[in-house]
Amino acid sequence: MDGNGRWAKERMLPRVVGHRRGTTALKKVINACIQKGVKVVSLYAFSSENWKRPESERTALFNMIKEFVAKDVPNKFIKPVVIKVMGDISPLPQDVIDALKETVEKTKNNGNMVVNIGINYGGRDEIVKAVNDVIASGKKEITVDDIEQNLYTAELPPLDLVVRTSGEIRLSNFMLWQCAYSEFIFLDKYWPDMNKKDLDEILKIYTGRDRRFGGIGK
Ligand code: IPE
Ligand code: MG
Repeated sequence: MDGNGRWAKERMLPRVVGHRRGTTALKKVINACIQKGVKVVSLYAFSSENWKRPESERTALFNMIKEFVAKDVPNKFIKPVVIKVMGDISPLPQDVIDALKETVEKTKNNGNMVVNIGINYGGRDEIVKAVNDVIASGKKEITVDDIEQNLYTAELPPLDLVVRTSGEIRLSNFMLWQCAYSEFIFLDKYWPDMNKKDLDEILKIYTGRDRRFGGIGK
């Protein structure tokens, strides 16, 4: 979800207004995903590098995450969703940690779509953590499966598609392991401008891609 700041800047508004509009777009996109039968959506809400931002912006983002899980998740979606979190949330404000843990617990048996939120998440950190967990279990030789089973996404299906908005064409440490065979779509739109129509378009592009996973195809 990129481009909130530039969306606001173009309108001479504070960056946090862009983030606020970003959460409105997020609700629209999640509902559209539920409608379309998407099984899992992983969101990059706060990266391990986003600590470099001013404290006021970080606080605003954390409060929006808290509001999202505490108010939007129970009220704003057309069907109940499962909330998962990937990343090390321990350095977050305690009230945000509590809200996240409570929502993860409360929603774990919901059917429908999984919304997996990356918070203080970094793809390299995730892989290192997985390797250390395997080592701690006493293994001397590590397999691909060992790592996969110790990622935050261990229980989730493979990552099919990565979408980044705002014209940036890079991964910025997002799901590095999981994207080995993913498709990529880079859009010029800023995240706050995203809506249901964009999701339809994204799914159409994705459906047209020929995924061969190293083979020669059909
Ligand atoms: C998304 O927009 C931010 C998140 C932390 C989700 P940005 O804040 O990165 O917006 P730009 O890149 O400054 O436009
Ligand atoms: Mg950005």
